[in-house]
Amino acid sequence: MKHQDELKQSVGKAAVKFIEDGMTVGLGTGSTVKFMVDALGERVKSEHLSIVGVPTSERTREQANSLGIKTKGLDEIDHIDLTIDGADEINRTFQGIKGGGAAHLWEKIVAINSDKNMWIVDSSKMVDELGSFPLPLEVIPYGSHQLLKRLDAKGYHPKFRMNGDQYVKTDSNNYVIDLHLGQIERPHHLALELDQMTGIVEHGLFLDLVNTVIVGREDGPQTIQ
Ligand code: 5RP
Repeated sequence: MKHQDELKQSVGKAAVKFIEDGMTVGLGTGSTVKFMVDALGERVKSEHLSIVGVPTSERTREQANSLGIKTKGLDEIDHIDLTIDGADEINRTFQGIKGGGAAHLWEKIVAINSDKNMWIVDSSKMVDELGSFPLPLEVIPYGSHQLLKRLDAKGYHPKFRMNGDQYVKTDSNNYVIDLHLGQIERPHHLALELDQMTGIVEHGLFLDLVNTVIVGREDGPQTIQ
């Protein structure tokens, strides 16, 4: 296994220790979360835990179900006790960028409906300033080329996310535009601006949502609160 994957696996295993019998747990998306769901599947099997998972993507739902973790949709449950998700960048004040896996719309909807949110990352995701990672936008396909022009005129260096000559499509059948910003000096200001642009369904700035981060480091997982 690659070293970075070992770090991702270590935080996945550390995160499932926060899950207790009877909990409803939001299940994020991505390669780090995949390790967490594997570890949760093992616990559910060996400890006969009664857990309900609320997946943030079809990928995660399929993985969870294949491991015997019961899942429900967000509108089928009362509340979510804890959501565990990955992230693409996190700064010192736990503001983050998500959406590298094109799942940030469902991830944000699940996050804002969760009592607690935890991110699990390898140490490469911890940054001083957000923005090196391109900021994902989920956009409505209709008129999206006009939207791209508007974003370009603002100097945001937008690019459609492609898979060969096909547009990457989200689980809601939307497109993704990535903003190559280099740095984001005022994340709250940018979030507000993007919130107000017609055609953008959701951006990947996750601000003031998370209170616990587990970072995979050489000397073991570090929980920061
Ligand atoms: C998916 C996400 C992921 O959580 C994020 O991209 C991190 O993924 P990985 O654990 O594979 O690095 O936001 O939309």
